Amino acid sequence: IPVDPFDFIIFGGTGDLSERKLLPSLYHRQRDHQFSEPTRIIGTSRTKMSDDEFRTFARKAIEEHVAPEYIDKAELDEFLARLSYVAADAVSGDGFDNLKAAIGDSKTIRAFYLAVAPSLFGDISRNLKSHDLITPASRIVLEKPLGRDLDSARELNDLVGENFRESQIFRIDHYLGKETVQNLMALRFANALYEPLWNSAHIDHVQITVAETVGLEDRVTYYDKAGALRDMVQNHLLQLLCLVAMEAPASMEANAVRDEKLKVLRALKRINGNEAPRHTVRGQYRAGASAGGPVKGYVEELGSESGTETFVAIRAEIENWRWAGVPFYLRTGKRLATRVSEIVIEFKPIPHSIFGDGAGPIFANQLVIRLQPDEGVKQFIMIKDPGPGGMRLRQIPLDMSFAQSFKGRAPDAYERLIMDVVRGNQTLFMRRDEVEAAWSWIDPIQQAWEGSRQEVQGYTAGTWGPSASIALIERDGRTWHEST
Ligand code: BG6
Repeated sequence: IPVDPFDFIIFGGTGDLSERKLLPSLYHRQRDHQFSEPTRIIGTSRTKMSDDEFRTFARKAIEEHVAPEYIDKAELDEFLARLSYVAADAVSGDGFDNLKAAIGDSKTIRAFYLAVAPSLFGDISRNLKSHDLITPASRIVLEKPLGRDLDSARELNDLVGENFRESQIFRIDHYLGKETVQNLMALRFANALYEPLWNSAHIDHVQITVAETVGLEDRVTYYDKAGALRDMVQNHLLQLLCLVAMEAPASMEANAVRDEKLKVLRALKRINGNEAPRHTVRGQYRAGASAGGPVKGYVEELGSESGTETFVAIRAEIENWRWAGVPFYLRTGKRLATRVSEIVIEFKPIPHSIFGDGAGPIFANQLVIRLQPDEGVKQFIMIKDPGPGGMRLRQIPLDMSFAQSFKGRAPDAYERLIMDVVRGNQTLFMRRDEVEAAWSWIDPIQQAWEGSRQEVQGYTAGTWGPSASIALIERDGRTWHEST
């Protein structure tokens, strides 16, 4: 369905995010005929560049990041014709007049996408305001990192909030744009099956794993200052935890959903200095093998000593009626054994077995929601092993693979999120209080690590992280689900 015409202004228009995600995603939306006339896309950054040079940049980005079968020459030309470029300096404000001239007085939807360092968020929003570029139909999109602790997040929110209303501010967590992440809400709230069981009476524990095989990539400066706790747990893993744990919202309306997520974040049990060593693990990869070849350790890749973690495991608890006593084990890391993101809901064991020892072990039911890759849902159940061999039991998955069930291209998270920005739908974006509540839980862990010098534990690249991560869950008599 086409959306209303809009102007999409990308700050950091020639940067990495614009090249890899924003321009390719916008192209896909063009190709699916979602744009109405006159929709315009304006790139901006400090670099001087002509419109044609920006179009050449965009063409290359699309040719590199869109699969050839989706490149349609006529659509690509039409897309490139929408593009223009204005050089502007976020700090001094030079060039904002030109931006204003380029946009004109149009009353159409205006999305300012800030694909730049957060240190520029305040300056850009101030300059947009002082150059009279903010209309009632304007929105601003903020990319992570949204702060590095609670104080800096508040400061950022204040700076942007001086110029934009909360209903105009779209804070991106691209995990929320992933099809399978949204499917979590469908699974929970469009089926009657699970919800009655979705609590501490029936669920033993939950595991959330976001494992990557990549290392530092080209993000040395940012990553070494952030580390995995800030880079992945504060946002993506906590958002997943919220979607698993929240109460049913009254509707899919943005504030209804965000209110419920906020309650979960606020109910997370604080992990303080004394508890951190038992409830958290910090790791850093050492040289090893990944993706079929040898890889360097983090420190060698970085070129200097560092105590930054590239792996985190946490035993979290939610202090409310639904989840009291149900641990949520979170883990994420770089250079792990395989790339997989999944959520495992492990139900309680049966109360009593009527089968003798000869039937073999009876495993607790598990619901495995696979977010990427090989998206799908598996419900593990026990059955009788077929055959005349007597009552022997076996575990099998009821397997729903998305790739097999749904043909066609899975849209990138950014495609969905960009269109939601244009539509003004904030359901999949983080509200200010959510981001701050997440930091309030993260800060004590970070401080405990820094205060006690809980040092990073080495793990060999290509493994599942430090052995302490296995100990963290085995101490409770449980094991990590084996992801392949
Ligand atoms: C980003 C992190 O937010 O998410 C990266 O900054 C990480 O470090 C990335 O690699 C993972 O996203 P995806 O979509 O590849 O799972």
